[in-house]
Amino acid sequence: MAVEQGRRDFLGMAFGGVAAVGGIFALGAMKKSWDPLPSVQAAGFTTVDLSPMEVGELRTIEWRKKPIFILRKDPKMQKNPNRDVVVDNSEFTVVIGLCTHLGCIPSWKPSTQEFICACHGGVFDASGVNTFGPPPRPLDIPPFKIEGTKLVLGEEGPEYAKLVGKA
Ligand code: FES
Repeated sequence: MAVEQGRRDFLGMAFGGVAAVGGIFALGAMKKSWDPLPSVQAAGFTTVDLSPMEVGELRTIEWRKKPIFILRKDPKMQKNPNRDVVVDNSEFTVVIGLCTHLGCIPSWKPSTQEFICACHGGVFDASGVNTFGPPPRPLDIPPFKIEGTKLVLGEEGPEYAKLVGKA
C-alpha cells in the first residue's frame, strides 16, 4: 500500500515536472509569435493603448516576462462585473496568460470563446474564470491602472483594487 502510494506520488511529481517544462517551452515558442500592441515599457511598467483594439480581438503582450491576455469583449459575450475592466465604453478581460494549474499558456478559441489549456484540458471562459478541468482558480489579474484609454500594467489603481477586493 505504502509502495503504491509512493509510486503514485512519484508519477504525480514526474508528470508535474514534464508539464512545467512544457510550459516553459511553450512560453518561449509563444513569445516569438506575440503581437505586441504599441506599448511603452519603463521600470517594470508597461503602458498599452486599448483604443485601437477591435471588438472581439485578443492580443497577447509581455509584462515582466509573463504573457498578458487582453480581450476586448464582443457585446454578445457574457459580462462579468467582478472581472471586466471597462475602458473606452467596452469591457476588457485582462489576465496573466498562465494556467493556474501548472503554468502552461492557454490558447484562445474564438469559436467557443474560451481559453483552453492543452496541458491537462483546463478551460477558462472569456472572463478567465475556470470552468472545467484541474485549474483551481481563475486566471490571475495583473496589477494595473487605467489612464484614459491606456492600461498601465504594474501599478495598482482603483479599478484593480475593486476587482481583487482591495477597494
Ligand atoms: S497546466 Fe494543467 S490544465 Fe493547465
